[in-house]
Amino acid sequence: MTYAQITGWGKCIPPASISNDEISQIVDTNDEWIASRTGIKSRRVSHVSTADLATAAALDALACAGIEGKDIDLILLATCSPSTMVANTASMVQKNIGAIGAAACDTNAACSGFLYAMQLATAQIRAGMIKRAVVVAAERMTWYVNWAKRDSAVLFGDGAGAVVLEASDEPSGLLASKIGCDTEDRNILHIANCGTDLNKYEPIGPSDLMFEGREIFKRAVKGMSQACDDVLTQANLSLDDIHVLVPHQANLRIIQAIQQKLNIADEKVMVNIDKYGNTSAATIAIALCEAVENGLIKPHANIMSAAFGAGLTWAASYIKWGERVTPINAPSATLPPCDKTGLELIAESVRHCVDQ
Ligand code: ACO
Repeated sequence: MTYAQITGWGKCIPPASISNDEISQIVDTNDEWIASRTGIKSRRVSHVSTADLATAAALDALACAGIEGKDIDLILLATCSPSTMVANTASMVQKNIGAIGAAACDTNAACSGFLYAMQLATAQIRAGMIKRAVVVAAERMTWYVNWAKRDSAVLFGDGAGAVVLEASDEPSGLLASKIGCDTEDRNILHIANCGTDLNKYEPIGPSDLMFEGREIFKRAVKGMSQACDDVLTQANLSLDDIHVLVPHQANLRIIQAIQQKLNIADEKVMVNIDKYGNTSAATIAIALCEAVENGLIKPHANIMSAAFGAGLTWAASYIKWGERVTPINAPSATLPPCDKTGLELIAESVRHCVDQ
């Protein structure tokens, strides 16, 4: 039997940040409200493109695996904030990492995108169609933000994470997975003023993240808990077998509600929403990488992940880690220097939103 082992992991966190106190200078909010309702203290804003974020994360994942771009057969880029739609952004990543001739494709399942892409790439490796894949999730969610709206402006951030998957005889990697989409109310979470449904001859307003927070909150908790139960059944495991939970980072209270439903102890849950906010598809990829770096993921760990996003897409995964928890080569990818603060990077966008 062939498995798709995770042999490399990497992330790219852009340097400029915006703290809760700083965002309070833009919209009517405050650190107390944001931190207590969401767990977010700060978020990153990127000075480079989604493709650049994805490239840096992918290069570090390749270094970690001790292989090169030319060894890769497939690049799946999970994003809902692509640099370019046509050609797809994955093709730019393919070029940047030197994965000559590799298949390259964007997958958009919003916040569930990384787990969707993991299942798709794993299935190809396990079927023997390919040997090695890079699954990368990269987002510039701040590009979409309407800085005049406090309910959404405080939630999102930018970043990228990536893994390398390689065919292996060892039972590891994604061993059970369930992905789905509940389209009954797909309008409760969407981005307005974006896409070919618009009349291109009419002036188009700024993009706008539209969502019914409370409704999503309830569905996220119910959907992710149910999906985790299904995956445990599929893998023939009980909750006691799970060593680490790496959930989508949309709201600390959602994470805690899932944790309670699944009865998982605090020390088993990976949380970094305080530093980065919601980076959509990238949250789990970044959190997975940091969980290995900080020692939460140990050799042969059983890892449960769950996500929920626009669509409403949902996903849960059981990943068995391999033996190695240290990189073969240390991360060394760099971004061009950033000479602006987070607030300076978004200043023009803020002006447009406030003038609307
Ligand atoms: N600062 C201060 N006050 C605010 C802010 C803010 N940033 N945002 C909203 N408020 C006010 C509202 O106006 C409202 O005031 P009112 O009572 O006078 O009308 C009050 O706070 C409560 O607003 P709610 O929307 O009911 O607050 P809630 O506790 O539900 O928290 C939140 C909102 C954080 C969005 C929560 O519902 C949530 O996390 N939902 C799910 C996550 C989500 O929707 N994320 C979007 C992406 S989706 C995804 O990633 C899966």
